[in-house]
Amino acid sequence: MQDPTIIESFWDVDKDFALLGLQVLPGLIAPAGSRGRERFFQAFRNYYATDSVKTASHLIKARFNVNKKHGVSDEDIAHFDLGVCTALLVNTVPAIWWTLFHAFSNQALLKELRHVIAAAISRQYKSREPLTAISIDVPHIIQTVPLIDSFVKEVLRVHSNSMSARLLLQDKVIEDDKGTSYLLKKGSFLAMPSAPVHASTDAWGPNASTFDPARFLHLQGDRISRSAYRAFGGGHALCPGRHFAMNEIMGILIIMVMKYDISPLDGDWSIPETRDHISTSVMTPGRDFLVRIKPREELQYMGGNFVWRFQKRTGRSE
Ligand code: HEM
Repeated sequence: MQDPTIIESFWDVDKDFALLGLQVLPGLIAPAGSRGRERFFQAFRNYYATDSVKTASHLIKARFNVNKKHGVSDEDIAHFDLGVCTALLVNTVPAIWWTLFHAFSNQALLKELRHVIAAAISRQYKSREPLTAISIDVPHIIQTVPLIDSFVKEVLRVHSNSMSARLLLQDKVIEDDKGTSYLLKKGSFLAMPSAPVHASTDAWGPNASTFDPARFLHLQGDRISRSAYRAFGGGHALCPGRHFAMNEIMGILIIMVMKYDISPLDGDWSIPETRDHISTSVMTPGRDFLVRIKPREELQYMGGNFVWRFQKRTGRSE
């Protein structure tokens, strides 16, 4: 990485996102976010000015080339990069945090996850010969162990509070379950928070407030309305990164539970208070949570060497 301050700058912007959105004297009402934003833009401007994009990933190069083709300046590309980093990081990072929190704070769940993942891995290997390195096909595990998908969806159901925002293009009357009508007026701004829907016993049944990693395994067909699950928003603005994000979170979960043991430094796994953000779906813990991460002792018998494959063997791998 060329400019390590960019990480801190990005999260400073994230903390002050709502205030910056007001576009009123940002240097005064959100000084840390405003400085962070300037540092972020400057770092990306330097990046493009020094032609560093040549060594970037395929994704970044492709974006850069599309922007260039349409005459977008380096300055504006640097501004767009803030949006890209926001979409990529602000929900995925806390989602991974909560996923690891629930996996490691619940010993029964951790045991179950390790058991089903190990079973999926061992099905890949016919031979009983001792192995020096185990090649793990992450997409295959995600596909064959439905508990992982259910668990991550449940993490997002419980810890997300997305606020889909829409501008009303016409008057619309809606009715609640008691028959009271409400007029939503054309031209007004409609905010639809997901947390009340995710906590609704009408939608999720009497155990709506319980964290149930296997919840989505039990749900069949149309028993739950599709619109009751709002972690990725809905309608025409439904998050286009949702499959990528789910795979990313599930991949990291698999690696972490198989390779490491994690325990809180103070021995206390109580769920920390959370912070809502206007800009994000997934809530963040309100404080740092210090943990000890150790390689699992049980893995020593197989050398502890894993090779994680994230793509099918057709193209680039590892
Ligand atoms: C756990 C991770 C994520 C969550 C919970 C999440 C959630 C959301 C939500 C709630 C929305 C607003 C939907 C609405 O207004 O109804 C959204 C929009 C969006 N997300 Fe995500 N997102 C995640 C990851 C990602 C990733 C990894 C990317 C990019 C690769 C991404 C790209 C976008 C984009 C571009 C939009 C705007 C869509 C539009 O307005 O048409 N998201 N996301």
